[in-house]
Formats: sequence, structure tokens, C-alpha cells
Amino acid sequence: MRVLILGAGGREHALAWRLARDPGVTRVLCAPGNPGMAALGPVVPLAINDPAAVLDLARREAIDLTVIGPEAPLDAGVADALRAAGHPAIGPGHDGAQLECSKVFAKHFMATHRIPTARFNVVETLDAALVAVSGSEFGFPVVVKADGLAAGKGVVVAQDRAEAEAAVRSCLETRAFGDAGSRVVIEECLFGPEVSFFALCGGRRAIALGSAQDHKRAYDEDTGPNTGGMGAFAPSPLMTPALEADVMRDIVQPVLDAMPTYVGFLYVSLMLTRNGPRVIEFNVRFGDPEAQALLPAIEGNFAAALMAAAKGELDMAPVLALSREKFVGVVMASGGYPGHFETGKAIAGIEAANGEPGTIVFHAGTRNRGGRVETSGGRVLTVVGRGPTYAEAIARAYAGVALISYDGAEFRTDIGKRAIER
Ligand code: AMP
Ligand code: GLY
Repeated sequence: MRVLILGAGGREHALAWRLARDPGVTRVLCAPGNPGMAALGPVVPLAINDPAAVLDLARREAIDLTVIGPEAPLDAGVADALRAAGHPAIGPGHDGAQLECSKVFAKHFMATHRIPTARFNVVETLDAALVAVSGSEFGFPVVVKADGLAAGKGVVVAQDRAEAEAAVRSCLETRAFGDAGSRVVIEECLFGPEVSFFALCGGRRAIALGSAQDHKRAYDEDTGPNTGGMGAFAPSPLMTPALEADVMRDIVQPVLDAMPTYVGFLYVSLMLTRNGPRVIEFNVRFGDPEAQALLPAIEGNFAAALMAAAKGELDMAPVLALSREKFVGVVMASGGYPGHFETGKAIAGIEAANGEPGTIVFHAGTRNRGGRVETSGGRVLTVVGRGPTYAEAIARAYAGVALISYDGAEFRTDIGKRAIER
């Protein structure tokens, strides 16, 4: 099987690494890829949001299965173009991608199909928004969300009326998010731990892949600004078999019943409230950095399962199992991230860290300059440790981190602690 992976981050390196281990996978081609992925197979430059360019590459390289990492190509219709030409692909079409790309669509979808989520209102004018937050029917705090993709900055948990007003003004008056903020969701604030849950979907069916928890804030003890994710552990100790069965029955299956053509990963962001699990949001792709922690835990022929899903034949898929080990991924970032940071810093120690027993290094913001690997982005690497307990997995991950150095390296020192504290 010849596999094409679209994307260049830690998530896509983990997908490539995991698929390269499956019997039957003869080639892993990545576009545009990164230096870590280049160690697994060819990497080629590609405009991954251009359906025609992707289809052309898949044809030229006789690709059997294309796995689409990020949401932007899905929103752009890359999976639609591949499937229309008879190429199996992992990832929903443009319509399915709206579950992630429009929060207004996702909330109406959940309400229509009775999928448990926070109570909400949609407003499209500043006047309506100001009325809605002045005497918030949901009380305070209240959550204000821009409809579209806003680079992780579109959600404000407003503690009081003034904060809520400022949030709706930035969407509807100063238009900080452009058209992405021209409609606004105002919703009830939920309380409880957050868990990321992943399912593989295809042909009206889904199988559970597992759970993880990520660490979104930049600094230890969950302080500092929000980031793309500073680390993750898998599985989540909060995700019991009974809860997983509830989520599959009450959330994942209703999505497929309403959207029978949905193919690919479904990432459910859950809040475990006192009244049961509630959907915070859907994503139509794998999580980053959850993928780096969860994919190494998946046992069985993952590539064959993805192919079965892509062909709508998930009932024929080989059985996948989850390792009994625990996995912890620590993100190493550039100094200053998520604010301003410099790039082009030489990175030492990746090979040494990869050589540690129970440690794997995934690349994200790295590039190759004349044979030397240097930093090229905010999140640079994810160092994953595995072990029989969370404590041992944490120790393996940080043993790897200790061997890697570059100017200004930043990382949290408490990734995975939350799994132990329970
Ligand atoms: P999102 O950009 O949708 O992932 O939201 C970012 C973060 O906002 C989530 O990870 C939650 O921590 C928080 N959040 C979103 N919606 C709610 C809600 N209804 N109640 C409480 N927190 C929320
Ligand atoms: N870990 C958060 C995300 O992938 O969106």
C-alpha cells in the first residue's frame, strides 16, 4: 500500500511513523512533510489546499490511500476531489468539515440531532449580541465564540458582562476575525475536566481509537496564554469503558446517522460535567499534540483499518487494540512562543533522544539547512515517552527532552502530572 500524508506538523509525523510500521505499507510519501518525515520516505513540496494539485500528485505517485492531516485542505474540498476520482482518502469532504469550520453549523447540528452540548444562542448583529450578553440567560461566566476558524483565538470565557461585551464587539464591531466572526455563538459555560476522544469513521460506522488529554496553556500549572498545545498524555484515565460506550452511542453514532457519508477521524472535545459528557466542539481531523501520544499506543494493522474506513467498509477492518502502556508527549517550543519567536536555531540531540529506550521524537517546526536541522516554527518537536505507568512515561519523555538543545528552547515541566494526581 502506497500512502500519502498531507501536512507538516507533529501530528502528521506521528501518522507517517505509525503507518510506516504496518505490514503492507510499502511507501509513505509526505507533502509537504518535515525533516522527521523525510526519514520515513520521500517528502515533496505541494500546495495541500489545492484539490487539483493533490489529485495530480496522488495519480502520479499511484497512491492507494491519502491521509489528510489538517482541517484547511478538508474545508477546501481536497477529500471530495480525491474520492470523486476514485482515490480512497481519510478525511471528510467540505460538507463534513463544517462540523469543525463553522461553530454555528456544529451547534445547530448538535441541537437538531440531540447530541449533548452547552445551551446556546446564535447572534448576527451587534445589537442582538449586546442584548444577549446584558442579561445573559446562561448567567456568568458565559462563553462567546466566533463562528469560523480564528487560529485558536475565537473563544472567550467571559467572567462578567463587560468581558462578554468586549468579546462580541471584537467579533461584530472591530471584526477582529473578519468573516469568521460575522456570526457569534453565545453559550452556557460548562464545568468539568476536558478529554479529547477520537473515533475512526466510514460507511455509517465508527470504531473508537482512544482518548487523550492535552495541555493548552503555555506555562506550568496551566498558566499563561493559550497555545496550539504544549503536551498531551494518552489514554485519559477519566475515559472509562462505560463512558466510552456512552460517547460512541450518544455522540459519535448520531453524527454518522445524520451524516452517513462522513469518512475519517472524528475528534470530540468533551467536557465531563456532573450531568454527563457534553461536546465542547468537534474537529474533523486528529488532534495535535494528542496524535503524537495516542498513535504510538494503537496496536494492530492501522493502515488496513484506515483503508477499510476510506472505502466505507469499516466492518471488514482488522481489530485495533490499545497498548496497556501509558504515553506522554512533551512539546518543545521556540523561546517566546506563542508570541514572537526567532527561528533558525541549530538543534542538537534528536538522534540521542530517539536512541533512548521508550522515547520517540516527532518533528514539527524544523527544517533542514545544508544537512543541519534547525528550528523553523513555534512548536518545534514533540518528545514522547512510553512506560507501564504515567510516572515512567513522563520520566522517559523528559529524559529525551534533556538530551535535546537549541537556543531558547521552552517546554512545560509538568506534562502528564494531571494523570497521576487523580
Ligand atoms: P475551542 O476553541 O472551541 O477549543 O475552545 C477553547 C476552550 O474554551 C476549550 O478548550 C474550553 O476550555 C473552553 N470552552 C469552550 N466552550 C466552553 C463552554 N461551553 N464552557 C466552558 N468552557 C468552554
Ligand atoms: N489539541 C487541540 C487541537 O488539535 O485542536
